[in-house]
Amino acid sequence: MFDFAPDPDASKDVLYRELLAAADALTSGEPDGVANMANVAALLGEFLPDCNWTGFYRVVEGELVLGPFAGRPACIRIPLGAGVCGAAAQSGETQLVEDVHAFPGHIACDARSRSELVVPIVKDGLVTGVIDLDSPDLARFDEDDRAGIEALAAMLSDRV
Ligand code: SME
Repeated sequence: MFDFAPDPDASKDVLYRELLAAADALTSGEPDGVANMANVAALLGEFLPDCNWTGFYRVVEGELVLGPFAGRPACIRIPLGAGVCGAAAQSGETQLVEDVHAFPGHIACDARSRSELVVPIVKDGLVTGVIDLDSPDLARFDEDDRAGIEALAAMLSDRV
């Protein structure tokens, strides 16, 4: 059985190091990208506090298509450039949004979401998907979250 119990009092820095090690252990040697995304989405949903949605969108034939996630059912297809996810996928740059209502074109899949972090997954110079985290709290995500999820996306780039 998978047994992971991060210290609830640990700093974000330590939490992300532990999450990265757990995600590495879960996906190492497993060639099925869907299984790997599913386990990482569940890991993030279970252990990142104050998130209402944690998951993946994949670039499929020029648009983002919903991948494995933890949370409420979500928008299935997002054009590149649309919303926070589409902006991250098109630019190849992380989008850290303190207030989604202030982000032009934000797509409200879950009306509870107030802040969002979207990190592109890049393989061989191409964006293959994004990791998307939503929170019901304003300004839930900061530079520690950005660094932690960017490290995760880099580790997963040839496993999803
Ligand atoms: N809010 C995102 C859409 C995806 S959901 O948050 C799961 C966006 O604006 O791209």
